[in-house]
Order: sequence, then structure tokens, then C-alpha cells
Amino acid sequence: MIQTNYLIIGSGVAGLTFALKIAERFPDKKITIVTKANADESNTKYAQGGIAIVTDKEEDSYQKHIEDTLICGDGLCDRSVVEMVITEGPKRLKELIEWGAKFDKNVEGTLDLGKEGGHSENRVVHHKDQTGQEIQRAILSQVHKKENISVLDYHLAIDLITENNRCFGAYVLDEKTNEILTFKSDFTLLATGGIGHLYGHTTNPVIATGDGIAMAFRANAIIKEMEFIQFHPTALYDAKTGTSFLISEAVRGFGAYLRTKNGHRFMPDYDSRGDLASRDIVSQSIDLELKKSGDECVYLDCTHLDMDAFKKHFPMIYERCKSLGIDLAKDWIPVVPAQHYLCGGIVVDKTGKTSIENLFACGECSRTGLHGANRLASNSLLEALVYSDKIYNYLANTSFDKSQFDHTVSDWKLVEKPSINQYFVAKRKAELQLLMRQNAGIVRNDADLLKAKEKLTLWKNEIEEKIKSHQINAELCELQNLITIGTLIVQQSIDRNENRGGFVKI
Ligand code: FAD
Ligand code: SIN
Repeated sequence: MIQTNYLIIGSGVAGLTFALKIAERFPDKKITIVTKANADESNTKYAQGGIAIVTDKEEDSYQKHIEDTLICGDGLCDRSVVEMVITEGPKRLKELIEWGAKFDKNVEGTLDLGKEGGHSENRVVHHKDQTGQEIQRAILSQVHKKENISVLDYHLAIDLITENNRCFGAYVLDEKTNEILTFKSDFTLLATGGIGHLYGHTTNPVIATGDGIAMAFRANAIIKEMEFIQFHPTALYDAKTGTSFLISEAVRGFGAYLRTKNGHRFMPDYDSRGDLASRDIVSQSIDLELKKSGDECVYLDCTHLDMDAFKKHFPMIYERCKSLGIDLAKDWIPVVPAQHYLCGGIVVDKTGKTSIENLFACGECSRTGLHGANRLASNSLLEALVYSDKIYNYLANTSFDKSQFDHTVSDWKLVEKPSINQYFVAKRKAELQLLMRQNAGIVRNDADLLKAKEKLTLWKNEIEEKIKSHQINAELCELQNLITIGTLIVQQSIDRNENRGGFVKI
């Protein structure tokens, strides 16, 4: 049994920022971060566009950012959460800069502000097209300096330890030794990120398997709005590898146009904001165009843009395209929508508390009320920064009854069992991804959702049997979690009878 004061599951922007703050405030307390891959691997690391923050108070205002967020969320945002998150942006940005994160400046020496879909003003603070990597680097280097933080990489949390609706820590698989460790903690934070690999075609890295949400669900936490999956309109279409490298929305903010194969600029046919309509509308429009034409992709045209300025702002995208033989000065980029973000998740209040005592959730795995039916571009990093601060403030300023932590926690019972056939796990995962793409994609219908539900019920029973009768490993746990997340998305899609934002059922 390992005792810690704060157990943090996940090392993206949400987990790392909270760890750093609580470690600074309580140098005598023990903070443990468990993370299932390299400590720097996360959705955070791949963020391109940047962080939406009102810094230019002449052209822009909190009110405009608030309105843009509410419009994008299509009536389902919690206005008080939107106001809280947006007005705290500048303070959180100042902290990031103090921790060493660098953001691009313009010739006047002020922050260079990009634009993305759904934003009425330029307000996206960025580090070229690698904003997430820069943030992850800066925060992680601060975390490594703190003696009271232990970062355990290749440690996969498999289940929360709960009793009477209170969390006492988590069971964690050491992926190198295959031991299952028991972490007893005063407070536990789920910061496990997104769910992209439920769909396979996703901009997310392979760590995104919805583990935190599935663990919270097994512990009876409230999970909401799982039907609001955000599909990013412009993932690079690469039929050979099937990967979905992101072409940032900031590229359209920089002036690129979407075109059909025949060259038609179709977005103005769908929305007066044209190529910079919000993400749900652009993805749904592309989906319609592809269904009409039977084509495999649409195209992003950058040929009219200043290529020197483009290369400076988007060096990674430029190089990636070049490596595939796409010359942006002459060629259009083939693009398709791909799963990108989950708007719903574990329900938390304004201090990040879940419905389970002593369990908090932050970042993409949480549902705060900020995004409603569709997240406004570049509001996710902001949400994680603001909520990690809220959780920190709550825990730093509340006194707790010590007796609630005196609780006996049992170690995981280890019994010798056969290993699982890895071929079975890989095959079932691929089938699950195909099922979700076909039956729970951009446009859904009840008949397909009901068929998916039936299949998911079979797979849920099957995986529970496999888990009982086999040695646990990371892939098996992730598959169970993906099936749980798929079931939640499908059921909540069946239950929703009104189309809003990113949710369309016909
Ligand atoms: P993550 O950064 O995903 O971190 C989750 C962590 O949890 C990882 O370390 C993971 O390994 C760990 N983990 C997961 N399960 C377990 C487990 N069972 N046990 C232990 N550890 C576990 N948002 C913006 O605001 N602006 C952008 O420009 C932007 N661009 C994006 C571009 C791409 C390609 C992608 C994929 C996302 C982008 N987003 C952007 C979204 C944003 O990056 C994420 O929503 C945000 O970074 C999530 O942060 P997080 O800390 O909640 O989760
Ligand atoms: C992008 O750069 O297009 C991604 C921005 C986001 O997901 O917020």
C-alpha cells in the first residue's frame, strides 16, 4: 500500500497544473502523479491552435468571448461557468508565462493573436502551431523541480477505491512489472483526458481511451452529455496510413478556404461565417458534401496565402504536408472530419468536485458546463487551467475532518490467471472503432444506435468475463473502458431527442 496526500491520475495540462500548485502550497504533503505512458504524452502535447484568452481589450472584450462561447454551445452552456472561465483567462496566462511558456509576439511586441471558427475576434494566444507541446514542456519542467511530487510513468490506473460514495485512492497497474499497486490518498484527481481511440479516426494520441470517465462511471459518479462528440473538420486525409494529423482551424483563421474536388467554396452555402463557422457546422457541412458527391475528402486551399508568413506560423503543418508531397503553394490539402474532443464527461461543480466525496475531475474528462453542445475552439486548454486553479483553491482553503481519512483499504487480490490473447483484444478494439464510426458518427439515427447498443451489451458481458478469468493488462483495461464509453455515448444519444450543436440525429 502506498500512502499519498494527493493522487493525480494523468499528466496533461489539467493534472500537471494542479500538482504544481498544490505542491507549492503544501511543501510537506506528498503528491503522486500516475500516468500511463511517458509523462509528456497527452492530448495537451498535440494542441496546435492555442488558448482563447481576451488580452486585447481595445478590439476584444470578455463579453464578446462569452457570447461566442454561448452561441457555439447552442443554448446548453452554463452561463455562470462561461463567465467565470473566460474572465479568469488573463490570470492563468500570466502564470503560464511565469512558468516559462513562450507565446508568439507580433512586430509591435505584443501577443500575436490567431483566429479560429466561431470566434468574432482574434484572441488565440499560441506558440506557432505547437502550443500544447510548449505548455506541456514548461509545466512539466516545473513539476520535475518539486521534491514533493513523484511522477510515475507507465502506471495505469485501473479502478478507483470507493466506499459509501467516498473515494480513498486507486488501484494502479505498474506496466513494467505488471504489479497492481494500491494507492491510498486523501484526495484523488481524475485528469485522464479524452476518448478519441473509441473512434480510431481521431486527432488524439493512443492514450485517449476514456479511462477516467469509465472508472468514475464504475464508481457511480454522474456522467453527462456524452453524446456531444466534437469532430474536427480538417484532419489530413491519408488513405495509406489511416492517421488523422490535425490541420489546425487557425489555418482557416489565417485565410485558407475549404473547397470541393471541383473547386467550389461550399462553406458560404451553409453559414454566413463561411469557413470560420463553428466546428459543428463545418464538420456537418463537409459530411453532407461528401455524401452528395461520394468523394473521399474535401480540400483546404492555402495557395493564395503568403507562404513565408504561413511557414512561420505553421511550421509543423507545412513540414508534415511537404513530407507527403503536398506543396502548399500549389496543392490543396485533402481533409476529412475526425473525432477530436468530448464535450461531456464526469459532472463537476465550480470547484471541480464530482458527485463522489474526495474525488475531483479536471480537463477533458470533466463536464463543467462550459462547452454545452459544442466547444468553442481553443477553450479547452483554458478550461483545464481555470479548473485546476479552482480545485487547488478549494483544497487549499477548506479544512477537513481528519477522521474521514482513517479508513482501511484492501490491497488488490492477486490470483494467478492465464494471459489474454492479445489478438482478441486488438480485433475487438478495431471492431468497436468501426461500430462507433458507422453507428455513432457525425449524423446518427435511432435504428443504428439501437443496433450498436445491442452489440455493445454483448461485448460488455464478454469483456467482464475475460477480465475475471485473465491476468489484467493495459490493453484489456483500455478495451473495457472503451466499451463503457461507447455504451454511454450510444445510450445518451438514444436518450437525446433534440438536435443541438455537435449532435445531429435524423
Ligand atoms: P490530456 O492532456 O489528454 O492528459 C491526459 C493524461 O492522462 C495523459 O497523460 C494520459 O496518459 C493520462 N491517462 C489517461 N488514462 C490514464 C490512466 N488510466 N492511468 C494513468 N494515466 C492516464 N485545445 C485547445 O484549447 N486549443 C488547441 O489548440 C487544441 N488543439 C488540439 C489539437 C489536437 C491534435 C488535440 C488532440 C487536442 C487539441 N485541443 C486543443 C484539446 C486539448 O488539447 C485537450 O482537450 C486538453 O489538452 C486536455 O487536457 P487534459 O489534461 O484534460 O488531458
Ligand atoms: C485546432 O488547432 O484546430 C484545434 C483547436 C482546438 O481544438 O481547440
